[in-house]
Amino acid sequence: MTGMTTPAARIVDAAAYAQAVETVVKAAAAYYADGTSPLDDDTYDRLVRGIEAWEAGHPDEVLPDSPTGKVAGGAVEGDVPHTVAMLSLDNVFSPEEFTAWTESLARRIGHDVTRFSVEPKLDGLAVAARYTRGRLRQLITRGDGTAGEDVSHAIGTIEGLPEQLAEPVTVEVRGEVLMTTAQFEHANEVRTAHGGQPFANPRGASAGSLRARERAYTVPMTFFGYGLLPVPGTETAPAERLLELAHSDLMAQAAAYGVNTTAATAVPGVTAATAEQVLARVSEIAELRAELPFGIDGIVIKADLAADQQAAGSGSRAPRWAIAYKLPAVEKITRLLEVEWNVGRTGIIAPRAVLEPVEIDGATITYATLHNPGDITRRDLRLGDHVMVHRAGDVIPRIEAPVAHLRTGDEQPIAFPEVCPRCGSDIDTSEQRWRCENGRNCHLVAALSYAAGRDQLDIEGLGHTRVVQLVEAGLAADLADLFTLTRDQLLGLERMGETSTDNLLAALGRAKEQPLSRVLCALGVRGTGRSMSRRIARYFATMDHIRAADAEAMQQVEGIGTEKAPSIVAELAELAPLIDKLAAAGVSMTEPGATPPSPTTGAAADAGDGPPVTADGVGLPLDGMTVVVTGAMTGALGELSRNEMNELIERAGGRSSSSVSKKTSLVVAGEGAGSKRAKAESLGIRLATPDEFAALIADFVG
Ligand code: IVH
Repeated sequence: MTGMTTPAARIVDAAAYAQAVETVVKAAAAYYADGTSPLDDDTYDRLVRGIEAWEAGHPDEVLPDSPTGKVAGGAVEGDVPHTVAMLSLDNVFSPEEFTAWTESLARRIGHDVTRFSVEPKLDGLAVAARYTRGRLRQLITRGDGTAGEDVSHAIGTIEGLPEQLAEPVTVEVRGEVLMTTAQFEHANEVRTAHGGQPFANPRGASAGSLRARERAYTVPMTFFGYGLLPVPGTETAPAERLLELAHSDLMAQAAAYGVNTTAATAVPGVTAATAEQVLARVSEIAELRAELPFGIDGIVIKADLAADQQAAGSGSRAPRWAIAYKLPAVEKITRLLEVEWNVGRTGIIAPRAVLEPVEIDGATITYATLHNPGDITRRDLRLGDHVMVHRAGDVIPRIEAPVAHLRTGDEQPIAFPEVCPRCGSDIDTSEQRWRCENGRNCHLVAALSYAAGRDQLDIEGLGHTRVVQLVEAGLAADLADLFTLTRDQLLGLERMGETSTDNLLAALGRAKEQPLSRVLCALGVRGTGRSMSRRIARYFATMDHIRAADAEAMQQVEGIGTEKAPSIVAELAELAPLIDKLAAAGVSMTEPGATPPSPTTGAAADAGDGPPVTADGVGLPLDGMTVVVTGAMTGALGELSRNEMNELIERAGGRSSSSVSKKTSLVVAGEGAGSKRAKAESLGIRLATPDEFAALIADFVG
């Protein structure tokens, strides 16, 4: 984890303080009213921290409507009182702040906490679900924490919140209502189809949808429980017993009743005995964040045992036995300045948003992906719009939606290109992603540079500049032309001496021997990257078999479904002349070690009855194993790239994967391995050093 501390906004005087309080109160009111907010989370947190800092130095000047003393600043008041206040959580932003919190908690209760529960902080809306004799009777928002709004009309639209529990108990389940990424996309599609403005982000979408009463449509949401309370004065309540249970046991109980909890996710709640263990888990969850199908904005750490919670007690705003470890914001609001249209190596014309630079999690973001023109229309994006930008992990930043209520009326429509912005050809707009009619030939330099790249044909000495030279000199009009280049042609190029020429010719000679998987990848078949190309090549074994495959046969390859199969088949047909030319130039069209599918079963011999075997009949060493590689690969293996490691694993019969889970069989951990190794250790998964791994697959190296 890096620099997570959110700095406080600097408030210099009483006027700035009053202004900050007003801004925060308005933002909170808008947020609680309809899920919209003119501030992103980070800006909001910074302002609140600034307000806190100023109030600490001026305790006599605290304004009555300051958000700091309230359960939920500026919230609209509901009409259903909560039996027990729905509190907020205090925040920490760094390991040091967290450790300090555990120490102050230990001082307060007179001993160290030896059991914490650690779970993701789900980024949605808190609700209380009241069950009477197992039946869901009422759903209430948090409101101002003491009373909330009755949103029982939403019952039936929330997955994971059963209308009937497995046992006839009278309890209150508390938790978070949110939209998964898929639910959010669906909600915006439905909403815009009904003429509405898209929601800026999933949280806003759930807030709006939960409270909406008279809509012509409903959109599904998801519930995750994080609390289970007895209902006072009810006979069927397992009342006293629940108060005795540890938080982790309550969660198990909720799950047994049929309520959805984080146990069903890639980041289940766990218990930890020490602050160090908690921090290790915080790192793991932070690492998995970008891959989760729902948003989290931190990790909640609770003293697990009921006795510790009771000893710690609660303040008016937040419990003292729990804390939110905030993760850096992954969303910020900024402005859309321009849209650029770039042609990729396959001729796809992709829009890219140019943004007013904004810092998200330590990186300055100036561009964001916009997918395709239809997407722009669906989201009703305009130049000058304030947009919510999302960036998690290494994923390319994306625009969630315009923040419609910040529009001034000066926003301008986005112009779509009428001809290819690169070569002026017509545009094929028949599919979602627009494509230059000139296809791969439009941006030949990009196509050739990609094909020559390390993970494809690995042609050393054929960098971008050299490719430009070859194309401009008219020596390469397609990929196959590279393999018929003569010594004289190369020597005729500027800055091309004898040595460089011979080296390049030798590299081209080696490239001809690359396995089919790499040739296929170099062709840049749309919808197939490195790992898919390997799967196709291993399944069919030869280019002839690949080309003979119809959509149905193509679907036999793992990961290729009914949608992808026909487009891959069509792409290969389009590429036929180039493939013929490559074969004629002597480029290898077979996958070493793979056996073609048998004509009778249509399945690869490899996937047949017995275990996969090598050509000489020996079983493959990684048969049936899922292997994850982490850290630097050095030692006996030499310095292998991730792609090369994945190739090795698959050749040896295994599956390569990038994330550690219970299904992982082996983790190869090199120097610098971090959270993936820790996770493997915590799950008891077999670990190997790069050298141990090399010994395991010795026959396949080289
Ligand atoms: S516990 C008394 N656990 O975060 C403890 N809250 O900032 C209060 N939240 O109001 C809640 N995930 O809406 C808890 N695993 C989790 C949570 C969680 C998200 C929300 C909840 C709460 C807010 C406080």
